[in-house]
Amino acid sequence: MRYSQFATRENVLEPGKPMYDEIRGHWNEAIFKNANPITVELGCGGGEYTTGLAAQFPDRNFVGMDVKGDRMWRGAGLAEDEGLRNVAFLRATIDFLDKFFAPGEIAEVWIPFPDPRPKEAQDKRRLTHPRYLSMYRALMQPGGLVHFKTDDRPLFDYSLEVLRRQPVTDLAFTHDLYASDLLGLQHGIRTKYERQFIKQGIKINYLHFRFEETGDGGTEPQGSQ
Ligand SMILES: C[S@@+](CC[C@H](N)C(=O)[O-])C[C@H]1O[C@@H](n2cnc3c(N)ncnc32)[C@H](O)[C@@H]1O
Repeated sequence: MRYSQFATRENVLEPGKPMYDEIRGHWNEAIFKNANPITVELGCGGGEYTTGLAAQFPDRNFVGMDVKGDRMWRGAGLAEDEGLRNVAFLRATIDFLDKFFAPGEIAEVWIPFPDPRPKEAQDKRRLTHPRYLSMYRALMQPGGLVHFKTDDRPLFDYSLEVLRRQPVTDLAFTHDLYASDLLGLQHGIRTKYERQFIKQGIKINYLHFRFEETGDGGTEPQGSQ
């Protein structure tokens, strides 16, 4: 039922749709019809950042990406209902991010509450594994901000450890977002998972960073407990 309605949603790119296999490098010209910077929300679920930021920042473009189409359905409908022309959703796995975006096409990335993949053998599937970071770096404009938030402390600590060995700059983090100055960067947006965790009294970890243009090492993060 929901999948059939995707076909009528102009703001969702999924397999079989025109442009799905040709969108790489053409988001602004083909979809948004402007030259504004593009923010991508990875594992967007209902796309709360995609739609929430799009409403607040009409001079930027937003793409929510998730492998599961049904979770994007509500977000895509909300964007349509609100007349948000700077929103699109992409149904695809993040492993193929570089098949959908060209180098320099992404200005900013949000990764809210990714699946923790707690087993050691699953580490390559964590969205902050070096193989994903290399891909984000190759596709992002210099100086673009990457935001990451999770309730899962082991995943967060893993991510910080990885980032300390990466050529990144402006790394900042908190283990308690709602008691942190970094809260302002959320623009009042909470995802579905985030609302559930807050209800349960679980603290939210958040970090952001930029990739160095020509880096040869990590930086010491600024953070708080
Ligand atoms: C825990 S949910 C979080 C959803 C949303 N960000 C939120 O905070 O409410 C993780 C989401 O990531 C998506 N996901 C996980 N691995 C993915 C991958 N490799 N490619 C695309 N989406 C993925 C899942 O389908 C799911 O919607």
